[in-house]
Amino acid sequence: MTAENPAVRFVMLIIVAAVSRASISAQVVTPVQSSLQLSAPKGLPSPVPGSDTFRPAVAGLGRTLFFDTSLSIDRKISCSSCHAPEHGFASVEALPAGSLGRRALRNAPTLYNRAYGKAFSWDGRAKTLEEQVILPISNANEMALPLEDAILRLRKDESYAKKFAALFGREATAQDLSVALASFTRTLVHADTVVDDFRAGQVGHLTRSERTGMWIFESKGGCWRCHTGPNLTDEAFHNTGIGVAGGKSRPGRMAITNDPADAGGFKTPTLRALAETAPYMHDGSLATLAEVVAFYRRGGNENPRLDRKMKPLALSDQDALHLVAFLRALSRRSAFSARGK
Ligand code: HEC
Ligand code: HEC
Repeated sequence: MTAENPAVRFVMLIIVAAVSRASISAQVVTPVQSSLQLSAPKGLPSPVPGSDTFRPAVAGLGRTLFFDTSLSIDRKISCSSCHAPEHGFASVEALPAGSLGRRALRNAPTLYNRAYGKAFSWDGRAKTLEEQVILPISNANEMALPLEDAILRLRKDESYAKKFAALFGREATAQDLSVALASFTRTLVHADTVVDDFRAGQVGHLTRSERTGMWIFESKGGCWRCHTGPNLTDEAFHNTGIGVAGGKSRPGRMAITNDPADAGGFKTPTLRALAETAPYMHDGSLATLAEVVAFYRRGGNENPRLDRKMKPLALSDQDALHLVAFLRALSRRSAFSARGK
């Protein structure tokens, strides 16, 4: 294992940050800051959106904050409690635990490739990453700490006070906090997988089964209609029937737009890093990729606003296995970046 490899170095930093978590409420972790970069791995468009204003030191501050439980009212929950690095920055629990014994109302999605996002949260309530990253702090089911109190805590903490002053030339503000957290989130990129190798012409990097699965994804599976482009998402909202009970869907996107046509609409998530991010869907209701494929095979859950692209699929049991193999391959790093791990 060599620390020269940026991917390895990043993983090592995450481990350092995670190990230091226990002592965080008393003391701020000071991770190495120089290694934070914003570069697109093979398979993602370059430059990464946001590169023009990106400052590594600000992302370094964001990383410290990301692992710090003092942003929650009871000092027990950090961003990483729900977006766990070892689970693709997604939650292991269907509805992850927040402060004061509460639970988030939805599954915490992966934070990979959010730099490429167009709207944030499952219903797209936040238009920018900066807007999104501070929502959990004051959310009663998540960190439950009024934003003003979070800012006061940062101003009172000597180490944070110094860092904010050095980086922004003033006392900590909500805006600077959001810039720091968003900058760190942008550094979480996931690509350079065997599927990206395949698309770049190295066809031997996918097994036969994975290749067949990819073909099903792009043909009779119809998955590409919504999971499209380098990040496998159209960044749009669709009613697939997840969360339908008694023929009725949850409001979803409609809660934001007030348009009944958007009822039950949720944002198409990326499919990168899938093997690490179970359980799946906005409510974490599907535990495995096999369950996800079974859900699509039957055409989703019937309801009046079901997306027209959702139809029962003519897939054999063997096809379903190939499709799962392909979905898993979207997490497998290419032979070159895997070397040394
Ligand atoms: C208690 C669990 C929890 C904590 C703590 C938490 N999140 Fe989340 N996060 C979620 C959930 C749930 C969602 C989906 C929200 C929704 O759709 O209503 C989410 C969504 C997001 C998104 C949007 C992702 C997307 O694809 O749209 C970002 C970015 C994010 N969180 C960053 C953070 C940051 C930064 C912190 C720390 C300040 C944090 N989260 C703390 C549970 C949590
Ligand atoms: C009509 C658009 C559409 C089509 C077609 C579609 N998806 Fe999805 N996909 C979505 C949306 C929207 C979600 C989130 C749904 C929710 O949670 O309410 C999703 C969620 C997923 C997830 C869960 C990801 C996560 O992180 O939770 C997987 C896996 C997935 N789709 C795979 C597929 C596969 C495989 C196919 C083809 C068989 C497919 N999708 C077809 C729109 C679509």
